[in-house]
Amino acid sequence: MKLPETIVFATNNAHKLQEVRDILKDRCRVLSLSEINCHDDIPETASTLEGNALLKARWVKEHYGYDCFADDTGLEVEALDGAPGVKSARYAACCGESTDHDSKANMRVLLRNLTGATDRSARFRTVIALISDGKEYTFEGKVNGEILETAAGSDGFGYDPVFRPEGEKLTFAEMAPEKKNAMSHRRRALDAMLASLED
Ligand code: IMP
Repeated sequence: MKLPETIVFATNNAHKLQEVRDILKDRCRVLSLSEINCHDDIPETASTLEGNALLKARWVKEHYGYDCFADDTGLEVEALDGAPGVKSARYAACCGESTDHDSKANMRVLLRNLTGATDRSARFRTVIALISDGKEYTFEGKVNGEILETAAGSDGFGYDPVFRPEGEKLTFAEMAPEKKNAMSHRRRALDAMLASLED
């Protein structure tokens, strides 16, 4: 598989963009959504991470003509049958407890739903959908771990304070950001995409 000279990463998140630019710097120019003047509220209505990543990448290709890749991430908790999963960003909002993207409320609902659970195993999973040269590809990155009973740490974002990766003593929110980024689900999905590129 080959990447084009210019590709859009369907995000406006400055951290994600910088991370991806650092990794792809010699291979291609990476543009954000705002850099192609895309200010659309891209629908994320699919019921899977794969589906949502594909919706975003296809939207950019169809409306703006650029080859594109998009990511979607979810926290999948064993005792909750994979929830919050595709609804991770709006878990508390889904049960009427908050607005979208309220991390504290999301963690509160998660810990409440896990009250008394003995199996607290969980994983972060990222799917990247890539449209390049008329073809669609998906790549996956996972980090297994467990959900603690109380939050710890103040770095990171989202569910980081309650997630401790397997084999680690610290939660994602207690780790140095460089360490988290080097082992994250997103990084692993990106590495899977890079591994499939031709030299
Ligand atoms: P997105 O697909 O990257 O926007 O992620 C969806 C949601 O999953 C976010 O709003 C967060 O709640 C959660 N999430 C994604 N990545 C992480 C992470 O690295 N740490 C903690 N939570 C995350």
